[in-house]
Amino acid sequence: MSAPTYYVTTPIYYVNDAPHIGHAYTTLACDVLARFKRLDGFDVKFLTGTDEHGQKVEKSAQAAGTDPQAFTDRVSQNFRDLADFMNFSHDDFIRTTEQRHKISVQDLWKKLLAAGEIYEGSYAGWYATRDEAFYTESELEKKPDGTRIAKASGAEVEWVEEPSFFFKLSAWQDRLLAYYDANPDFILPKTRRNEVISFVKGGLQDLSVSRTTFKWGVPVPDNDDHIMYVWLDALTNYITAVGYPETENGEYATYWPADVHMVGKDILRFHAVYWPAFLMAAGLEAPKRVFAHGWWTNEGQKISKSLGNVIDPIQLVETYGLDQVRYFLLREVPFGNDGDFSHSAMVNRMNGELANDFGNLAQRVLSMVFKNCDKAFPAHGEFTAEDNELLEAVHGLIDDLRASIDLQAFNEALEKIWVVIRAANAYVDHQAPWALRKTDPDRMKTVLYVLSESIRHLAIVAQPFMPQTMEKLLDQLKVSPNHRTFAFLGPEHALEAGVELDKPQGIFPRFVDPEADNA
Ligand code: MSP
Repeated sequence: MSAPTYYVTTPIYYVNDAPHIGHAYTTLACDVLARFKRLDGFDVKFLTGTDEHGQKVEKSAQAAGTDPQAFTDRVSQNFRDLADFMNFSHDDFIRTTEQRHKISVQDLWKKLLAAGEIYEGSYAGWYATRDEAFYTESELEKKPDGTRIAKASGAEVEWVEEPSFFFKLSAWQDRLLAYYDANPDFILPKTRRNEVISFVKGGLQDLSVSRTTFKWGVPVPDNDDHIMYVWLDALTNYITAVGYPETENGEYATYWPADVHMVGKDILRFHAVYWPAFLMAAGLEAPKRVFAHGWWTNEGQKISKSLGNVIDPIQLVETYGLDQVRYFLLREVPFGNDGDFSHSAMVNRMNGELANDFGNLAQRVLSMVFKNCDKAFPAHGEFTAEDNELLEAVHGLIDDLRASIDLQAFNEALEKIWVVIRAANAYVDHQAPWALRKTDPDRMKTVLYVLSESIRHLAIVAQPFMPQTMEKLLDQLKVSPNHRTFAFLGPEHALEAGVELDKPQGIFPRFVDPEADNA
């Protein structure tokens, strides 16, 4: 039987900006899903990439004094570099300026046109280049100087009048509502789902899907005056990457519909309203889920270039460590909520949960095995009720984690792992294996066996979140690299007695304030 498939995507990032914490965050969440599913035996496709067309990018290229293609070639690379730096495990990186994508978007356009879903007209209304979005008067706020901004994003809008093709979005209201109804988990979290439903219930207007006043985009087939609206172009990346327009064979047949499109809350409407409508109108299946995560603030302040408080993920990692940052971002707030990044919160988690809870557990136990069991994993005797209690918690963990991960509840998954870490630490204190060394060495061995097995399980299930550190820990446990998937959880694959250890090394350093050092 072939493995079940899992297709997860990040938004494709606008290349006008330098990569920042928001980009790292969205892709991190997808990376954890992809790694988790691979370890769980799924055939995974994990896609990320860059969104390179549209007025915003064209303007940025002009400002940089280069032509848009040269500009996007250069800045797209920054996003690839960030992905490598963050140890993201994407299988494909798509750029909307690639030929495979042009073919795909033009084909989708032709299908929509043939189905009577696109018609020619002219647009007169408000447009925000920063959001690459059209707004109705009621979505705007008029400022004292007469300019208008979009209430939702604060982006300035300008009046646009030009010939345009329209997508008949207004005809999709009932079918979209029926889709949300039949697929209650299509939009998560639930609060966001409710927002989308009330937006759609409020009525949908036809959507302008082409522009004539600038050139940087995919040409509308057989009509050189128009280029496609950048969101129609961008959203289509998700099917381009699985080989669309080929739908019968190959990756489309294998992976589509996508399991999760991960997006920030600001771009939910495009993914949960426009995208399923485009797809259904072209006779294609809609994705299974769109998850909208929240936004980060910095020490309580909204992040913005003008405030100069943009968080650079590279600097963050250089200060605190890669896996520490990965852990923090997914642990600090329930996924879906907004979160605040602060130095003190970061250090508290780094020193408390990572160094003290997990790091010390591993270090204490492995050092005792190394010192007191001839540097080798001990054999166990009969288990007591307390041994069994910890082992059962450890063995049952994966099923609990699957449930959380399938709802993108990362902080809940981490909390479940920490419940077991804390139980293991309490067990060490209570069993006091150091005291058993003289009084009952056989019992000491059983205790250290139970703990080592617990650590093996914890290390395996924590790999998606902290891959490098868990690799080091599994190396120290002498777990062979091909015995690290979830198929090797459980007592049948337990550590073998007699396998020799190296001298244990700490895995989670404490954060030491450089200024405190000088004091
Ligand atoms: N190009 C579009 C997406 C097209 S997908 C078919 C786009 N690009 S973006 O570069 O602006 O995307 C940024 C992503 O980062 C979004 O998911 C957004 O929510 C996220 N973030 C930007 N700032 C953020 C924070 N301060 N915090 C968390 N995420 C934020 O939109």
